[in-house]
Amino acid sequence: MGDYVASYHATMKTSGYCLPRLLSLKLASTFHYRPLLQAHLMPKSFIARSVFILCLALIVAAAAFIGMRYFDQPASNKQAKALIGGPFKLVDHTGKDVSEKDFLGQYMLIYFGYTYCPDVCPTSLTLMSEAMDIVEAKDPALAKLITPVFITVDPERDTVSAMKDYVENFYPTMVGLTGTTEQVSAAAKTYRVFYQKAETEDASEYLMDHSSITYLIGPDGLYSKHYGHGTGPDVMAASMLEILAK
Ligand code: NI
Repeated sequence: MGDYVASYHATMKTSGYCLPRLLSLKLASTFHYRPLLQAHLMPKSFIARSVFILCLALIVAAAAFIGMRYFDQPASNKQAKALIGGPFKLVDHTGKDVSEKDFLGQYMLIYFGYTYCPDVCPTSLTLMSEAMDIVEAKDPALAKLITPVFITVDPERDTVSAMKDYVENFYPTMVGLTGTTEQVSAAAKTYRVFYQKAETEDASEYLMDHSSITYLIGPDGLYSKHYGHGTGPDVMAASMLEILAK
């Protein structure tokens, strides 16, 4: 999905036109079909003609605006909504069985990783926690609606107690989720997260390769927004405040 969004924006950038702009150009050229307008529609007096042209311009602008609303962001969001998020069964850091149903009605800020991760995961979870701090400072009530969730991709080593010790380092309300290998694999598939054990000589000290995306999941359990690797806490917080204020 990240790739889809990236390529969509890349296309928009290289072509220089987004779809609504092309649409408005097309409409504009349609309305510039002068013989038809002059013969049947164009009023005769100067003032009436000016008003008529102004009206046409407004219609074109309105069409462009509607086109923009329809085609621009909702298109990628709709696709993402269909692809990302859904049912999962895991175990939280207190040892309780949980599913997506336990989180309905609240936002989840989800990151997949593993506690042995030397750099990427701690960095991402720190950024996530800083974003939560900013939201909480600006609007404590909104911050309460968001649960930061860390889901392991390394259930072999990330036991319930390992997850408990780990999430406590980041944010007070952060929930750590682990489970059986099958449960974790199913949850990662639900969120389109890739992971695999990196090849090493020492079997006990292995690393995990994994995607580094933070998802904001809506109160309906469906995709709301995602933040690419390294998104700053200011940007993430502003985005969440905007989404939750709606
Ligand atoms: Ni990591």
